[in-house]
Amino acid sequence: MRTLTGITPSGTLHIGNYFGAMRPAIEAQARGDCFYFIADYHSMISVTDPAERRAYTRGIALDWLACGLDPQISVFWRQSDVPEVTELTWLLGSLTPMGLLERAHSYKDKIAKGISPNFGLFAYPVLMAADILLYDTNGVPVGKDQKQHLEMTRDIAIKFNETYGETFVIPDSIIREDVAVIPGLDGQKMSKSYGNTIEIFGDEKAMRKKIMGLVMDSRTPAEPKPDADKNLAIQLLKLVAPADVAADFENRLRAGGLGYGDLKKALFEHYWNYFAAARVRRAELAANPDHVEAVLRDGAARARAVAGVVLKRARRASGLE
Ligand code: ADP
Ligand code: TRP
Repeated sequence: MRTLTGITPSGTLHIGNYFGAMRPAIEAQARGDCFYFIADYHSMISVTDPAERRAYTRGIALDWLACGLDPQISVFWRQSDVPEVTELTWLLGSLTPMGLLERAHSYKDKIAKGISPNFGLFAYPVLMAADILLYDTNGVPVGKDQKQHLEMTRDIAIKFNETYGETFVIPDSIIREDVAVIPGLDGQKMSKSYGNTIEIFGDEKAMRKKIMGLVMDSRTPAEPKPDADKNLAIQLLKLVAPADVAADFENRLRAGGLGYGDLKKALFEHYWNYFAAARVRRAELAANPDHVEAVLRDGAARARAVAGVVLKRARRASGLE
């Protein structure tokens, strides 16, 4: 059972990324056979400053390693260090109907926002399918927003297999319903494009300010709040505090007597402690960039060994060889 996932280096990682994608991916390491990569080719459509791309890529490598990605167990690499993926993108794209790509939510959303589309944006799901199929992936842990991309990957793989004979493993998405969509500071889906994020490794003062600034309603502390489970701070607290502690806060809010300020203070403390050990590891790794680079290069060599075999299979099946 091979698990694979990628994160695009187009910003700083937030706790939506962590609970929606990274934590399930890190937990999957217990079963072994994990492939995790930094999707720098995918970042080409959103980042056009080379220094920024390098900085985000390096930052994300540090984030994953600090959060528990173990390069002894998992294969961890930079997507562009295995350029075979671009060749596979072409093979797959040549069988991908325009209609399928035109129906992609992520594409339609960007068009609706007035972003003028380019080939990279349109072909994004094909590159993503190539990422997944190149490594004989069985399961892809992602947030709900990526579900359609996974369905497209399956459609593309099935089409290739039907056209050229059994070549690709058909992958499944792994979506944990309990953490499917982490809400951001404004209650919408947490996303770097909405500016409503709580960073995993943000600066203490800035993070405290963000969390204390959470907008609550105007009910007095004494008032009972029967809708306590819908409260944003409670929802976030459930992610970072032990279950009994979060349940206790929820009960106190429901009963009345707990002020929003105290609730937010508790949320900040638990958030800060939750990532404390990882924060220390991240600082150690940041002080040793050569080590991080060596980890990525070693991962690329291991990824490339698999990619070479699968690409050859696809080239043979399609008559390129
Ligand atoms: P963003 O929306 O901030 O741009 P990405 O699209 O780069 O985040 O997402 C990277 C990974 O993190 C994906 O697997 C995505 O599904 C997951 N993810 C992002 N935001 C959330 C969220 N709010 N809740 C759950 N998972 C999320
Ligand atoms: N598109 C994904 C995102 O924005 C990142 C990604 C690229 C990915 N290739 C992938 C995720 C392959 C899973 C598998 O979050």
